[in-house]
Amino acid sequence: MAEAGSGRALLSVRDLRTWFPIRRLLFSPSRGYVKAVDGVSFDLSPGETLGLVGESGCGKTTLGRTLLRLERASGGRVVYNGHDLLSLGEAALRPLRRRLQMIFQDPYSSLNPRLAVRDIVTEGLRQHGQLDGSLDAVATRLLHEVGLDASALYRYPHEFSGGQRQRISIARAISLQPEFIVCDEAVSALDVSIQAQIINLLVDLRHRYGLSYLFISHDLSVIRHISQRVAVMYLGRLVEVGETRAVIDAPQHPYTQALVSAIPVPGKARSRRIVLRGDVPSPANPPSGCRFHTRCPQAMDHCKTVEPPLVRLKHNGVEHRVWCHLYSH
Ligand SMILES: Nc1ncnc2c1ncn2[C@@H]1O[C@H](COP(=O)(O)OP(=O)(O)OP(=O)(O)O)[C@@H](O)[C@H]1O
Ligand SMILES: [Mg+2]
Repeated sequence: MAEAGSGRALLSVRDLRTWFPIRRLLFSPSRGYVKAVDGVSFDLSPGETLGLVGESGCGKTTLGRTLLRLERASGGRVVYNGHDLLSLGEAALRPLRRRLQMIFQDPYSSLNPRLAVRDIVTEGLRQHGQLDGSLDAVATRLLHEVGLDASALYRYPHEFSGGQRQRISIARAISLQPEFIVCDEAVSALDVSIQAQIINLLVDLRHRYGLSYLFISHDLSVIRHISQRVAVMYLGRLVEVGETRAVIDAPQHPYTQALVSAIPVPGKARSRRIVLRGDVPSPANPPSGCRFHTRCPQAMDHCKTVEPPLVRLKHNGVEHRVWCHLYSH
């Protein structure tokens, strides 16, 4: 099921599932599962940025971590550059690990406070025995790549602002020449002006090195600035995937419509904000049929019992996929 126009995929994800067992005590039998990721499929092309959006708890981080084998998948398939990622043993996985990196929301907690910046950004290279040149020279080159200079070499994370710290974690992530980076809420904790700078840096690096990103955010207004395509996630599943403009200008799924209606438009109030009723149901016990039916303003009777099919639509000639009964006839 290759996606139209995506060419040869760098990453191909099929029916991916990550379920966390629910136990009363550490070694007691499982009493069910939190179905954090529950049947997700998509392709990512080389050099492409796919934005992943959805409310808190819908499974975005778990999906990103499962793709990098930081979380164990319960089922499905992930093919990365021809490698069946989920079935590789640790030894076979090791050379691929450097190609797959992650950048987190809070660089302060992901940067070791006791290491100087030059040691932080070269840590991966040293671990992989790939430090080529003097440590200071390599670290300086990496810092230049992210808009910092050699004055940062001997300083520690707490001496930097949030935006600068995110630059340091980006330098560390690109040090091993990755191909694919999961950016998990990478700019969410930053001021709007700093967000824009970090997004520009990520776009720059993507062009320079042909990087692909899975750019996770709960904020569509951030995602629209960086992604070629957007995937919308609800309760462990994708509900809509398409080119960014198509998804934002012509959202089809009622859940996406609600998210898009909340994007602030500078200078004017949005005329029709769709406010969803109720809380997100528990992923341990997702609703039957369409998982969104309990909150959907347009829910029909069969949405409660029948799983929505994948429907392929076109918006201005561009493919757009949506899982919703509204479009299935
Ligand atoms: N290690 C774990 N063990 C058990 N449940 C987990 C674990 N990690 C995540 N979960 C659960 O899986 C679901 C998805 O969590 P996840 O962190 O992936 O969501 P998210 O979309 O990234 O949310 P946020 O926007 O708040 O970061 C949640 O219900 C969460 O409580
Ligand atoms: Mg998360």
